[in-house]
Amino acid sequence: MAGLESPLSAGAILEVAPAKVNLALHVTGLRSDGYHLLDSIVTFTRQGDRLGCSTSNADSFTVCGRFAALLVTGGEAPADNLVTKARDRLRRYLESRGQSAPPVAITLEKNLPVAAGIGGGSADAAATLRLLQKVWNATLPAADLSMIALALGADVPMCLASLPLRALGVGETLAPLESMPRFAILLANPLKAVSTPDIFRQLTSKTNPPISPAPKSSAHGDWLDFLGELRNDLETPARTVLPEIAVLADMLGESGAELVRMSGSGATCFGIYADLASAKTAARAMEEQMPDWYFQPAETLQGERPT
Ligand code: C5P
Repeated sequence: MAGLESPLSAGAILEVAPAKVNLALHVTGLRSDGYHLLDSIVTFTRQGDRLGCSTSNADSFTVCGRFAALLVTGGEAPADNLVTKARDRLRRYLESRGQSAPPVAITLEKNLPVAAGIGGGSADAAATLRLLQKVWNATLPAADLSMIALALGADVPMCLASLPLRALGVGETLAPLESMPRFAILLANPLKAVSTPDIFRQLTSKTNPPISPAPKSSAHGDWLDFLGELRNDLETPARTVLPEIAVLADMLGESGAELVRMSGSGATCFGIYADLASAKTAARAMEEQMPDWYFQPAETLQGERPT
């Protein structure tokens, strides 16, 4: 079932799935299985998808929200969604250890664009793992939880953490960045899906230098200087595939953003602003120019759990 109403029912246990923003992403190598080695500075936004869950007579999965239609075909949410995959993997883990994992009704409010480089599906999977541990009253050892997360996708372990961090390997080696300040950002997307494998395939240089150590200070200016020296190596191939990315980046630059870059494999670009009011003003101006595109002002998290 899908709808635009928000049936995150009263009494359900709720969890936010924050958007992931790659403030910088260097591709440093290629693994023998074809996955790329990354060095990425990552943060998360307070705003994201939302999930609600309650115990039920039978498993169900419902999608609502602005982007629900992209996940639903013939009125049904797909059985292979990362939310249901996360539910099934966690249940198998618990049941193999003699613990019960009774049927659950899960609703996903899909507020983030799909295939957009801000980890929507990965964030939903990670939020499902956090949520179902609460519903099923189970706390997994961190290493087991990370293994389940990584099996669901390279970005799922970092989305489980949902705090500022540096991600290495294919995304499984995580180091929190406690000095990262809170940023006011604007997420902007032309609402055209981008295929991550396609963008990785188009990369010409796969052995770029790693990222230098992050500032120990929390000063906004120090972080802007640090990030300004870095890149997203996937931005060049993504701009070739989708020319709208260059248009977005120009619009963000002209709107007064202090730093403009693409996140993940795109197409979402972000601007960092002096404060949230400036990000909101920029969003309103850009919405007037491109009413069919997605503009979301947001604040990044510093380790707190969004509600
Ligand atoms: O792990 P996930 O399913 O999110 O990855 C989607 C695709 O993106 C992979 O099949 C791979 O082609 C590409 N990828 C990659 N290197 C990474 C992450 C993803 O090549 N570190």
